[in-house]
Amino acid sequence: MRLRTAAVSLSVMFLLVYITLYLRIHAMFSHVRDEDFSLPPRARPNSFGQGGVLPPVESPVQDGGDAAPIALHDLSNVSSWKALRDPGYRSLREATHRRDLETLRRITAASELREFAEGLLNDTARLVEVAGSPWAVAAGWVQSRAVLPARAPQLGALLFAMATEKVTRADVGYQGTQLKATLLLEGGQRVSFRPQKYARDKVIKGTPYAGYDRHNGEIAAFHLGRILGLRRIPVAVGRRINLTSELMPVAELRLLETFLVKGDNVCFYGKCGPCRPETAACGVGSVMEGAVTLWLPKNWPLKKRLWHPWKRTYNVNKTARWQTDQDYCNIVRSSPLYKSGPMLLDLIDASVLDYLIGNADRHMCEMFAGWEDSMVVLLDNGKSFGDPDKDEVTILAPLYQCCIMRRSTWQQLSWLTGGMLGSLLRMLLGYDAITPVLTDAHYRAVDRRLKAILTIVDTCIRTHGRASVLVTDAAQ
Ligand SMILES: *[C@@H]1O[C@H](CO)[C@@H](O)[C@H](O)[C@H]1NC(C)=O
Ligand SMILES: *[C@@H]1O[C@H](CO)[C@@H](O)[C@H](O)[C@H]1NC(C)=O
Ligand SMILES: *[C@@H]1O[C@H](CO)[C@@H](O)[C@H](O)[C@H]1NC(C)=O
Ligand SMILES: *[C@@H]1O[C@H](CO)[C@@H](O)[C@H](O)[C@H]1NC(C)=O
Repeated sequence: MRLRTAAVSLSVMFLLVYITLYLRIHAMFSHVRDEDFSLPPRARPNSFGQGGVLPPVESPVQDGGDAAPIALHDLSNVSSWKALRDPGYRSLREATHRRDLETLRRITAASELREFAEGLLNDTARLVEVAGSPWAVAAGWVQSRAVLPARAPQLGALLFAMATEKVTRADVGYQGTQLKATLLLEGGQRVSFRPQKYARDKVIKGTPYAGYDRHNGEIAAFHLGRILGLRRIPVAVGRRINLTSELMPVAELRLLETFLVKGDNVCFYGKCGPCRPETAACGVGSVMEGAVTLWLPKNWPLKKRLWHPWKRTYNVNKTARWQTDQDYCNIVRSSPLYKSGPMLLDLIDASVLDYLIGNADRHMCEMFAGWEDSMVVLLDNGKSFGDPDKDEVTILAPLYQCCIMRRSTWQQLSWLTGGMLGSLLRMLLGYDAITPVLTDAHYRAVDRRLKAILTIVDTCIRTHGRASVLVTDAAQ
């Protein structure tokens, strides 16, 4: 134990020395060179589907006959709309909500923070009646700076619909290097489905971007974004699908032909660069766990697709310029893209989120077409929560190289210290259909990483002065 504490203080010291040295060296150089931030080769196709009408979530009981309550130990036992009418499910959900509100009252003294946390919790836990379709509600939420509002009372109902609504069509995922399926849910909503590849407690070693996507990371990132006030991550939820009865009957041939059986388990490998029969994802028997992500609405196409200036080379023998050039932020800032507008501050926000979740794979800046103030939409957060004991400080390069942060982000981070961030994240994830979404070690990791971020900001402030580090812009 003592050894461990010593090791932790040693690594914190090392981090501090590293950052301080970095900032010193940085301040010594100030000339600016040109760098090309050209467009990547391909544009992302956009054929988002949505619309249609779902029954209200709290539909009246019609078939009272088979009403034997299902046995529930936690809220993960939900696989169909039937659960909504199940007294066992409803009362467990309400009891969990009451318990969490109680906990919040105990752990938050500051009334403003408690109000904020309660708001997030209420929106997640409650299954309110939605007039019309939850898909239409979610489509109406999207703005240039957020995919959902700060308070979204229908979120619980939307997540429930995503986790349980009937699959009407299934196809291969749209593109990329990771196995996905694209599903159409009853009512015409398109979602993407990322299968589970790892057990919850699997620790991913290797390069900072090693391994397959973590479906649970996608879900945790969505809720963490809400907590940080960075609502730039598409809505995501866990879901268990019976591949045999729910997916195969509605699958397109090109998806269907990638299905196979390994032992007693139904598997599929889909279509993607490295997708092979050997890399197939498998269910337990015929039931596969995964993450369902809501597609953005058709009228919000993502057109502007740029390389992230701090992207990695993905080659151990090659270093990127940002890894060696102490003056890299000035190079980025000299580009017209980043000189004005919200993009640079969005990338700083993204680096904060990515450091907390352990995602070193942010290589794209995805933005809405035709919006000057478009946020950098944070798609693809699956390379996250791989190793709770590893804090990949280089993810924060945009922050410690530029020494700048939105004041609103900094304030939000500051009041979530002392274990609040991890506790709140754990609470919100407790309502997910695949809860527990993360192991305990990951909640401790986000709290520890939050401290490191604030330490870096402090060091920046001491070096450059508060006014130049914490900035207010029109976008937020
Ligand atoms: C879900 O319900 C079944 C019975 O309907 C029960 O056997 C199982 O243990 C429950 N699982 C959880 C996680 O509550
Ligand atoms: C959350 O719900 C509780 C219980 O219904 C209520 O007392 C509280 O005022 C709500 N808080 C917010 C911020 O919505
Ligand atoms: C999945 O669906 C198949 C085909 O309908 C059925 O035989 C099987 O029992 C289902 N599995 C579960 C766990 O419900
Ligand atoms: C990196 O360099 C080593 C030694 O030269 C070589 O064996 C390896 O294949 C290289 N790796 C890549 C990804 O280029």
